[in-house]
Amino acid sequence: MAQINPSMLSADFARLAEEAAAVEGADWLHIDVMDNHFVPNLTLGLPVVEALGRATRTPLDCHLMIEDPDRWAPQYVEAGAGSVTFHAEAAAAPVRLAREIRAKGARASLALKPATPIEPYEDLLPELDMILVMTVEPGFGGQAFLDVMLPKIRRTRQLIDRHGLPLWLQVDGGVSASTIERCAEAGADVFVAGSAVYGADDPAAAVAALREQARR
Ligand code: DX5
Ligand code: ZN
Repeated sequence: MAQINPSMLSADFARLAEEAAAVEGADWLHIDVMDNHFVPNLTLGLPVVEALGRATRTPLDCHLMIEDPDRWAPQYVEAGAGSVTFHAEAAAAPVRLAREIRAKGARASLALKPATPIEPYEDLLPELDMILVMTVEPGFGGQAFLDVMLPKIRRTRQLIDRHGLPLWLQVDGGVSASTIERCAEAGADVFVAGSAVYGADDPAAAVAALREQARR
């Protein structure tokens, strides 16, 4: 079953609780945490995640685009995240970190920038609940979908299936009505959409339409 996770990066940051309510019915709220070091942009951190967790019933899918996730990621579980994604390029000890996230009660997820291959992480798959294949360079919403990532989505799906593991495969970046079907066909089952949801006149309807398209 396809899941649609609206990215609050494209929401109005002055009205986050209302913007979360506008997409009730979404599977998760995707929260982009950026530290101005791992990516050239700065967004929000622990206090805002904590406040959002109190303001919505939708579970929080925190995507950490930060350096030193080994230090910070467990604190996002404590702040209320139900899923914590850290970047392969930033983690010093990904297995230890995934175990720590799971032990604290959240889903552990590994993100790959466009130039990072999945193959070196094959043996880590049993430690994880989700792989995030970035379909833009992380840092900003509203960028064009990189269709050269489709083969990596396909290979990641094959690895997951070959090992018979229940991992979810998330795509993030440029996911819209015109790209979601190709992502689904390649094997993604969790779709992050920022501008395609919050740029729409009716964000809830946009979520429903994307979900319908992803299941075709
Ligand atoms: C980008 C973020 C994405 C971003 C996606 O670095 O990780 O979650 O919000 O935005 P769209 O869907 O507009 O490409
Ligand atoms: Zn993201």
